[in-house]
Amino acid sequence: MILDRFRLDGQVALVTGGTKGIGRAISMALAEGGADIAVVSRTPNPELESAVAALGRKYYYHRADLIDRSQTKEVIPEILKTMGKVNILVNNAGIISRAPAADFSENDWDATLEIDLTAAFILSQAAGRQMIHMGRGKIINIASVLSFQGGVNAVAYASAKHGIAGLTKALSNEWAQKGVNVNAIAPGYITTELIAALQNDPDRSEAILKRIPAGRWGDPRDIAGAALFLASSASDYVNGTVLSVDGGWMAW
Ligand SMILES: NC(=O)c1ccc[n+]([C@@H]2O[C@H](COP(=O)([O-])OP(=O)(O)OC[C@H]3O[C@@H](n4cnc5c(N)ncnc54)[C@H](OP(=O)(O)O)[C@@H]3O)[C@@H](O)[C@H]2O)c1
Repeated sequence: MILDRFRLDGQVALVTGGTKGIGRAISMALAEGGADIAVVSRTPNPELESAVAALGRKYYYHRADLIDRSQTKEVIPEILKTMGKVNILVNNAGIISRAPAADFSENDWDATLEIDLTAAFILSQAAGRQMIHMGRGKIINIASVLSFQGGVNAVAYASAKHGIAGLTKALSNEWAQKGVNVNAIAPGYITTELIAALQNDPDRSEAILKRIPAGRWGDPRDIAGAALFLASSASDYVNGTVLSVDGGWMAW
């Protein structure tokens, strides 16, 4: 049955930044699909822990600040120790700093590249080794429409997210034949804390909304279906793709 191919029973999914926004919606979708969930962020979310437990799934929270590479390197060994394996890795944690490129600080550049791109590589490499050993695995990187476009006042973010598209394709080229599917989701404008500043700016908010063919902002749950698909065996022949989930933004 085709719906059975979307089930994740017995699998362990690690979602970085899984506590809120898009990551929370993905964590819940994967738990509803049957996976046990490990989440990494700086701040725990007890409400999510209860919601996952209510579905009868295991939940493990690991506090780490992905700006600190030594903490990033501890993540996969820690999850392997506590959960035994990682079948699905979702590199979702991300930040954005907004400033004109001429004034953009080196600190903000370094922080954005470290969290949004380098951490995804470090975690993919460590999880990928173990997935290659198992002969199977799913890596989902959260990209952006700024994986394709330059955006405005977000030079580090656009650079990191273009990098995420490249990372996705490069890893896919090496690992597809080893049973590891590496793909990305490029969300459009999704209502979370990350874009609160844009939504609170009346001019930018109106301009963006007008340009979204679907005529509305996205909800984190709009990303959940694509994540479940890419995490499941329903997507076993999907490799190296960057899937836009953006209300039609990239088609405009
Ligand atoms: N919202 C959008 O419109 C949109 C569009 C395209 C792409 N995206 C991408 O979607 C992903 C999720 O964004 P979101 O909109 O859901 O943002 P969000 O609501 O701000 O959530 C970000 C998540 O990342 C975690 N995080 C941030 N910095 C971290 C750090 N240094 N170490 C560990 N975890 C960290 C946060 O937890 P803590 O703060 O507790 O650490 C939180 O769980 C990001 O990669 C973002 O670039 C979002």
